[in-house]
Order: sequence, then structure tokens, then C-alpha cells
Amino acid sequence: MTLTLEVLPDPERLAGRAVEILEALGAEKMGGPGRFVVSLAGGSTPKAAYRLWGERSRLDWRRVRLLYGDERCVAPDHPDSNAGMVEAALLAGLDPAPEVFRMRGEDAEPAAAARDYGRQLKAMLDGGDAIDLAVLGIGGDGHTASLFPGREAVAERHHLCVETVAPDGKTNRITLTLPALRQAKRILFLAAGAGKADILQKVVKGPFAPESLPSQFLLRDETLAVTLLADEAAAAKLG
Ligand code: 6PG
Repeated sequence: MTLTLEVLPDPERLAGRAVEILEALGAEKMGGPGRFVVSLAGGSTPKAAYRLWGERSRLDWRRVRLLYGDERCVAPDHPDSNAGMVEAALLAGLDPAPEVFRMRGEDAEPAAAARDYGRQLKAMLDGGDAIDLAVLGIGGDGHTASLFPGREAVAERHHLCVETVAPDGKTNRITLTLPALRQAKRILFLAAGAGKADILQKVVKGPFAPESLPSQFLLRDETLAVTLLADEAAAAKLG
């Protein structure tokens, strides 16, 4: 499979397209047994899509399980918390609520919280529930989830979830690893804004250097079903 690139005029239309994809995959899954399993990206880009998804969705949320691709090691009510962002943008308005596997970023031992999350994810996968869709963002340094250039987490090939540290050297993170993300049936990258134009050009068109640009491990993996949704500003240097 090759990378599917879709360019939308603006962030609003990007959010709308992301919801279309989520709803189409969810509806397809609802046609059979099992749950629709989605791992969510953090950061700011997906917020609009999550809000719109909550407003427009026609899925039976009792059959949806939400995972996280990564989490900052802060309390869920901290402004930097991905779980806090998802709660405000999506979950607060859902009744019935989906099942949510939250990464416990508030725990004093991030490594233990990561191991616990990895065990939960492995049990889910061993039980036959795959990750139907992994929603991911791309950082300005080419990271995705919390797989930052130069960190050991990028090289992890056994554990499904590990702790790591953000580039500031201070903020601990919990992140799914490549073995976990590569198990997703579909991967959906979201990138919006002129600030992402340079990094998209490097990651999509530039030399394959995934140790420096970790999102390339997924975006440039032709064995994976990857869609990149970008608005025109972010896609400006993709030609
Ligand atoms: C996080 C994310 C991270 C994010 C990128 C892009 O916890 O921050 O998981 O990987 O997706 O940094 O972030 P923006 O969408 O804010 O540009």
C-alpha cells in the first residue's frame, strides 16, 4: 500500500474529512461483531475533529473503545493532558460513553503506568480486538505520538508502550511504540497550518531518515495503510 495524501482547503474541512473517515470505518465495523477501536492523537490539531466527531457521530458508542497514542505525565485536569483535551472536545458530550483506556499520566511512576498500559493493550490484541484506526499527528521535529528523535522509545521493538521524555528533557511522556502502532489496520495522520509545511516536505518527500524523523517509520512504510490529511497550508511544499 502507498501513502494516501488528501489535501483539504482549511483546518475546518480537514476536521470534517477526518470525521467522515472515522464514521465510515466505524459504520463498517458496526456491521459485524466486536468493537471499533481507535487510538487518539494528542496535541492541538485533532481537537476540532474530535469536537465535530462528537457532534456528528451516528455510531453506537457502546461499541467503541478509545485508546491513546500517547500522554503527557500530568494529571488529567492539567491543561497539557491529552485525556483532558479529549474529555473536553469529545467525551463530555457523549451519552452513552465509549470505553476509554486512559494512559495514567498522573502516576508517580510513568514506567510502571506505561507497562500497565502495554499489558492492557496486549490483552486486547490477544483477545482478537485490533486497533482499527490510529489517529496521529506530526510534530515540527518529525515526531509522532511521543516518539521523539534520538529517544530510546523510537528503537523499542518489543514493548507496546513505554515511558519517554519530551525534547525539553523535563516532561515525561507515555507513548505507544512502533510495534503497537504498526498493528493498526489503518493510520490517519492529521497536519494543519503553514507551520507544518517544512516538516511535511521533509517527512513525505525528503530522504528516508526515520531515526531523525520518526513519523517516517509509519508514513513511509508501504506495508501499512496510511492516509495523511493535510490542509493547503501544511501541504504547500508537497508539490
Ligand atoms: C502530543 C501528540 C503529538 C502531536 C504532535 C503534533 O501528545 O503532543 O501526540 O505527537 O500529535 O506533536 O501536535 P499538534 O497537533 O499540536 O501540532
